[in-house]
Amino acid sequence: MKKEIKNIQSYYSPNDLYNRILAGLDEIGKDMSRLTLDDLQPVDEFHIRGDTATRELINLSGFTSDMHVLDVGCGVGGSTRRLSYETGCRTTGIDLSEEYIEVAQRLTQLLGMQDLVQFRASNALDLSFSDNTFDGVWSIQMNMNVHDKLTWFKELYRVTKPGGRVVLYEVCANRNTPVYFPVPWAQDSSMSCLVAPDEFRDMIISTGFEVETWNDKTELARIAFSHMTEPTGEPELPELGVHLLVGNDILTKAYNLHRNLEEERVSLIESLAVKK
Ligand SMILES: C[S@@+](CC[C@H](N)C(=O)[O-])C[C@H]1O[C@@H](n2cnc3c(N)ncnc32)[C@H](O)[C@@H]1O
Repeated sequence: MKKEIKNIQSYYSPNDLYNRILAGLDEIGKDMSRLTLDDLQPVDEFHIRGDTATRELINLSGFTSDMHVLDVGCGVGGSTRRLSYETGCRTTGIDLSEEYIEVAQRLTQLLGMQDLVQFRASNALDLSFSDNTFDGVWSIQMNMNVHDKLTWFKELYRVTKPGGRVVLYEVCANRNTPVYFPVPWAQDSSMSCLVAPDEFRDMIISTGFEVETWNDKTELARIAFSHMTEPTGEPELPELGVHLLVGNDILTKAYNLHRNLEEERVSLIESLAVKK
């Protein structure tokens, strides 16, 4: 396996994640026998504006209960489960991290959603599915770790049925460089590959997709992170949070994301593309 892929895989592979999530739920007094999707939200929706963004993307998607949708780079599956729960569609989530996939499966079982929502470890650049398998595709904040974006888009195109819709919610570059590191998706620049929104859009189109919706969400992201201040001393972290996914320096990462947004070093795009 390529060194670049190995680095990303190890970044997203914390030890004993499932038990640490259960311990966090226990500490905040959640009843495990009556767990809800909302209870997991602080840890299982690892993207800018969390569940609010997921619900906007569900509205945008038009996915319905007769569909089978692929979530590419699903993490521990929070938005995969939300998508199935809200629309009734069947979902399959894939992720590079075997640790995340195991946790995604176990959390899904805990919620009794395993008939509708399934997961498997796979690389987005070499998807283990036949051509024209899925009615729709959904990919949230994964592109930042992908250098070879054209291969990723070609894979999305290949596994989507003709007429299928692809929902993307992705961080891109902006007018200024360099990006401050670490950020939530990368410890340093070797793990991050951002292209300008125009270049991103051109790649989607050159793959064969038609871009039906293109919304700039940068200002909403900027507002969401505007309260972040530079962390000092030992971090005060909640019992349940995305620090469990990518480490206790999460406040530094969130602060750097805030600076990158304020200084126009990153942008955020929401898009719906259709396979003609
Ligand atoms: C910032 S997280 C977002 C996770 C999830 N989409 C969410 O919104 O909660 C990025 C995810 O992309 C996954 N990822 C990065 N590169 C990948 C690749 N080449 N193939 C599959 N997954 C990948 C990581 O393992 C990680 O789970």
